[in-house]
Amino acid sequence: MKLRYKIAAGILVFLAASISVLALVLSHTSDCGPAPTAASESETMQAVVYRCYGATDVLEFGDIVKPTPADDEVLVKIATASVNPLDWHYMRGSPYIMRLGSGLGAPDDPRMGVDFAGTVEAVGKNVENFKPGDEVFGGRDGAFAQYLVIPADRAIVMKPANVTFAQAAAVPIAAISALQALRDKGKIKAGQKVLINGASGGVGTFAVQIAKSFGAEVTGVCSTRNVEMVLSIGADHVIDYKQDDYTKNDEQYDLIIDMVGNHSLSANRRAMRPEGTYVIVGGAKGNWLGPLMGPIKAMLYSPFVKQEFVMLLAALRQDDLAILADLMQAGKVTPVIDRHYPLSAVAEALRYSEDGHARGKIIIDIE
Ligand SMILES: NC(=O)c1ccc[n+]([C@@H]2O[C@H](COP(=O)([O-])OP(=O)(O)OC[C@H]3O[C@@H](n4cnc5c(N)ncnc54)[C@H](OP(=O)(O)O)[C@@H]3O)[C@@H](O)[C@H]2O)c1
Repeated sequence: MKLRYKIAAGILVFLAASISVLALVLSHTSDCGPAPTAASESETMQAVVYRCYGATDVLEFGDIVKPTPADDEVLVKIATASVNPLDWHYMRGSPYIMRLGSGLGAPDDPRMGVDFAGTVEAVGKNVENFKPGDEVFGGRDGAFAQYLVIPADRAIVMKPANVTFAQAAAVPIAAISALQALRDKGKIKAGQKVLINGASGGVGTFAVQIAKSFGAEVTGVCSTRNVEMVLSIGADHVIDYKQDDYTKNDEQYDLIIDMVGNHSLSANRRAMRPEGTYVIVGGAKGNWLGPLMGPIKAMLYSPFVKQEFVMLLAALRQDDLAILADLMQAGKVTPVIDRHYPLSAVAEALRYSEDGHARGKIIIDIE
């Protein structure tokens, strides 16, 4: 064999071996070790934690050390939290690629939950924008607990007086995703025809209302049992996906926000105007390439067609939370709440979320 073929074969073998090792490392799930014991003099709080990846039986409800705020942090006594699909993705460490950030083999951080609303209990000495007693909401790891600490300049803002703690806790991840999908990725404009696929879920119920607040003509796609609810939050039209397929009627949209990913890109293209934009928010489940296939195909497809196909990776930002607080204060956005669970039943709440048929948001009552 010529030298250059030997080198090429060597590189291929090396690449295949590296990919196999990476796949083994990413998919390895360690056993749950023994629970750490808190020093007896530490102040404790109730929380839901996980020490290994898996189904909801890896969740533990018990006492852990109560956090104390650093100089630039706020200590929040949590009244309510809310559930997002992100929580069970973390719980399962799935898709495996996310373990590069959350921990190989086992989670680096045992805390669960992100969205919270509650009351400031204490602030660090450098904090000027919050004080004890303020009612706040935001997003930070560790929201399925009685307390959390968060830097004062991160995703935490004052709760408008006209919304409840449950409504405020419903907002952070879902509403920020809807806002960033419509405004940043979709470049939404007044008068545009916007279709929201998955209009009855956590992100969808916010997307319908936020799109209306931008002056768009909104069509929501949901199942029969949710048609009235989606109309009641402001959708101009509703397509019942049990009866009709939005990619097969003659309507064309300027913007499609897709939380479901159940139609091909070419089918979605048929439902788009020539200058239209399609934003991938959610899609297939799976440990390996399943969830990545939509974005990969969109990246490959987009350069060859006139329409734009883009993917959202939402970021929790204080300025966007403030915009959402203003929208709630003005009565333009009202969170839709499906069910409440106590902190001790987070496992049940996550199972319900994983079933994929939540109607708005799932709330965890903590206080
Ligand atoms: N890219 C990002 O940054 C980002 C951010 C947030 C969320 N996400 C992802 O976005 C997706 C949605 O999140 P979510 O919080 O809205 O989830 P969710 O609350 O669990 O949404 C479930 C909703 O999807 C609806 N649905 C199921 N099948 C449908 C179909 N074939 N057509 C239309 N609607 C259908 C269900 O309605 P029925 O009960 O009527 O079927 C249910 O109301 C998830 O995959 C999540 O991981 C991504």
